[in-house]
Amino acid sequence: MHNYSRIYVAGHCGLVGSAIWRELLRRGFTGLIGRTHAELDLLDADAVRKFYAEEKPDCVFIAAAKVGGILANDRNPAAFLFENLQIQSHLIDGAYRSGVRKLLFLGSSCIYPKLASQPIKEDALLTGPLEPTNEWYAIAKIAGIKLCQAYRRQHGCDFISVMPTNLYGPNDNYDLQSSHVLPALIRKFHEARMAHAPSVTCWGTGSPLREFLYVDDLARACALLMETYSEEQFINVGYGSDISVRQLAETVKTIIGFDGEIVWDKSKPDGAPRKMMDSSRMFALGWKPQVDLTEGIRLAYNDFLAQCATR
Ligand SMILES: NC(=O)c1ccc[n+]([C@@H]2O[C@H](COP(=O)([O-])OP(=O)(O)OC[C@H]3O[C@@H](n4cnc5c(N)ncnc54)[C@H](OP(=O)(O)O)[C@@H]3O)[C@@H](O)[C@H]2O)c1
Repeated sequence: MHNYSRIYVAGHCGLVGSAIWRELLRRGFTGLIGRTHAELDLLDADAVRKFYAEEKPDCVFIAAAKVGGILANDRNPAAFLFENLQIQSHLIDGAYRSGVRKLLFLGSSCIYPKLASQPIKEDALLTGPLEPTNEWYAIAKIAGIKLCQAYRRQHGCDFISVMPTNLYGPNDNYDLQSSHVLPALIRKFHEARMAHAPSVTCWGTGSPLREFLYVDDLARACALLMETYSEEQFINVGYGSDISVRQLAETVKTIIGFDGEIVWDKSKPDGAPRKMMDSSRMFALGWKPQVDLTEGIRLAYNDFLAQCATR
């Protein structure tokens, strides 16, 4: 990747895509290419082919996907499986056919078995059953990894895959029907504070352990990997330590300044008991997170307030 490379960031308006875009600009890359969902529907194979033929990118980051939390996954299994298979297949095959030199596909820690031994190493893939609440999404992501590996083996394409842990930060989705745990907590505690509510109800028992990475740290990792990593094996990118959902809720509550009670709705699913990735291969490349969780939640809350102000 050179400063004059033509770099396509698919999904550049989303949480991850916008962070990659910011990071590339910060590093001085000038040939960035982005299309909104309205400008280019990645479910349309012909439109994607035409886009590649016209724009001829040198490098591609795939941060476009149909993304959502447990509730959205549970309600829309067909959409999560079908749309993600289509989006990534069109982008990966199109990249091969138009001669893209390097491609980075973003997967997710949900690819790993529900009861994988912790911290989860890359070779835990396909060693046990998936977490049922998001298996549709996970199957699509596993197919994306395999597509990159298959195009590398059959066609010599330099296509790599990155598995980030749970992410948060600017441009996150705060819609309670489709959001992940941390943005959902930010919204719930904010609204409860504004309404002077006596309590906030959170899903599950609060006991699952989760890892959270500020999205700008992931973007730095992606830029580094695009420049230096060319292995068939995908690579984990995590924070390096985890906390319980209960501790997370307490932290968000404190940062937002809500002084009511937290009630745990134990009828709702917890998901996997622990999901902590082993990111030692990434750390060995000289990368490490720069934003700790408390600081990151403060930054994310400021972004949430800015989003509220512009509505
Ligand atoms: N968020 C996390 O915690 C997390 C954790 C690990 C891995 N990841 C991975 O990171 C990647 C990006 O996730 P994200 O959190 O950044 O999601 P996001 O904020 O929802 O961004 C996804 C982007 O893809 C676009 N998109 C979806 N369907 C499209 C289509 N048919 N045509 C064109 N554009 C389309 C969306 O546009 P619209 O919004 O306009 O539809 C959006 O801009 C995903 O592969 C995800 O698995 C995310």
